[in-house]
Amino acid sequence: MKSTGSVWKRSAYGGQLRKKDVGERVVLLGWVHKQRDMGHLVFIDLRDREGIVQVVMSSDKKDLLEEAKKRRMEDVIGIQGKVRERDKSSKNRDLPTGEVEVEAEGMRLFAQSESPPFTVKDPPEASEELRFKYRYLDLRRPALQRNMKIRHQAALCVRNFLNEQGFYEIETPFLTKSTPEGARDYIVPSRMYKGKFFALPQSPQLFKQILMISGFERYFQIVRCFRDEDLRAERQPEFTQIDVEMSFIEKEDVLSLVEQMMASLFKLIGVNLSLPFPRLTYQQAMKTYGTDKPDLRYGLEIRDLTETGTQVDSKIFQRVLSEGGTLKGLLVKGKGNLSRSQLDKLDKKARELGGKGIIWVKETPELKSSLKLKREDLEKIWREFQGEKEDLALLSADKEKTALKVMGEIRNQFLSSISQGPSGFRFVWVTDFPLFQWSEEENRWLSMHHPFTSPFDEHISLLDKDPGRVKAKSYDLVLNGMEIGGGSIRIHNLDLQKKVFGLLGLSLEEVEKKFGFLLKALSFGAPPHGGIALGFDRLVMLLAGGKSIREVIPFPKTTSSLCLLTGSPSPVDKKRLQELGIKTTE
Ligand code: AMO
Repeated sequence: MKSTGSVWKRSAYGGQLRKKDVGERVVLLGWVHKQRDMGHLVFIDLRDREGIVQVVMSSDKKDLLEEAKKRRMEDVIGIQGKVRERDKSSKNRDLPTGEVEVEAEGMRLFAQSESPPFTVKDPPEASEELRFKYRYLDLRRPALQRNMKIRHQAALCVRNFLNEQGFYEIETPFLTKSTPEGARDYIVPSRMYKGKFFALPQSPQLFKQILMISGFERYFQIVRCFRDEDLRAERQPEFTQIDVEMSFIEKEDVLSLVEQMMASLFKLIGVNLSLPFPRLTYQQAMKTYGTDKPDLRYGLEIRDLTETGTQVDSKIFQRVLSEGGTLKGLLVKGKGNLSRSQLDKLDKKARELGGKGIIWVKETPELKSSLKLKREDLEKIWREFQGEKEDLALLSADKEKTALKVMGEIRNQFLSSISQGPSGFRFVWVTDFPLFQWSEEENRWLSMHHPFTSPFDEHISLLDKDPGRVKAKSYDLVLNGMEIGGGSIRIHNLDLQKKVFGLLGLSLEEVEKKFGFLLKALSFGAPPHGGIALGFDRLVMLLAGGKSIREVIPFPKTTSSLCLLTGSPSPVDKKRLQELGIKTTE
């Protein structure tokens, strides 16, 4: 026993005790997970970061029994005792320590806990709001202890892997200038230079490119990024990226490096990934799945029925198709039993997405459709789908972009309703995005990835003539329908970078003000380079089998960007604001 005098040193984690430890004398330290007072016996479930073990105090040690009766949930205690095998009848198969228990011989109270606002247990019962306010209690849950361990192991695995591949981990500043990644910046006022602000980086994009110009060849960083954007399910205002950049490489080098990194990471959870990952071009992904983040665990491909549409006697089809539109369809197996109101909801959804609505066809038991069609036409469509009884065919006749968007969203809706979907990890690379997308709102071209992405060499001549047709040397990594990474080969030629800024509608003056430092750097011998950033929180979430990135971030913000633990953001003293030269309005 390592306990001497007043110093109690842990000899083992209670959560790791197993049958092989029977007979050992141990010193355990941890929290009271549960206490059960049976009169002549007290059971304490003792929790530490490795799990929970049952401790028993019996009436042979009267003082100890009395002390144990006073212990409450979340008190911090130490136990000296002996590991013994439980009776056959009291073994607990649900607990990894369930074959053993510790017979207490001594106990020490380190700290008493107030009655907690919720019970520390999995799955949690308290609301997320309450748990975030008391995140230190929430983090005591075994599931979250496990998630933080996986997070640590994943970071270590990435560091080791990239170190072996010759990468240096190099830090880049947080107090910096805006790096455009399509979100708003968090800005930090400067006290020394009133009226001037730093921006927190949306990513280290420009610094990693500059590190390539500085000759480091292979850089990585597991780095926090900050984006002030409207939060959706898998977004946080501060999140972590595995950020990577390499010199003198091509797209294939980045893709193969990342595939190997993923293989090492997924080994952590005993999954052997098969490499290389499948690839789709952006165009293929959009045409087949109506999204650039397809979930390949499910087939459910969008079909083109334009040709069939031209042979069908329908005014709607003829009008749309004669105006250059398309007919897209989706056959959903076994969903022929959807009710009228469920089908109406799909139609409403299609209209909300800017479409003209949804046409359905099913065979229950005769062929029926929401669109009045001749029997032979219905049969033609059904044959084209190879539909069977119980199936549901959905059609959208519209401009191609709209029809694909509608079908893609509806496909997603069906996928999310399949609760017991196929498990497993289906990666896919989506490549060759357009360099630009037209913004109706801003009436100008926007970068599809970011402005530092290189166009295809053979498309450079198109930049002036037809920017919309220029393809980019860019790639996204998608896992089970979630974007977990994105990157590109960069522009390393000064004139080309200037040209792209110009096409994005930036004046020379703006370019100089925002990116002058990058252009200068590009003029001093920039090697060809490229890289990628992977969403570390999303990856850890998938490794941990979690449903939200909030489960794998130790101190997450709420979906409305608040830190409930510290109560931030919060007002600042008038004096501090004065020092910064800032006046606030209501
Ligand atoms: P991108 O903006 O695609 O690329 O980001 C890379 C990956 O980071 C993750 N991610 C997020 N995760 C959680 N919360 C967020 N708010 C959030 N935003 C992004 C996603 C995404 O795929 N500099 C480029 C990379 C490069 O070109 O090398 C960049 O940041 O998983």
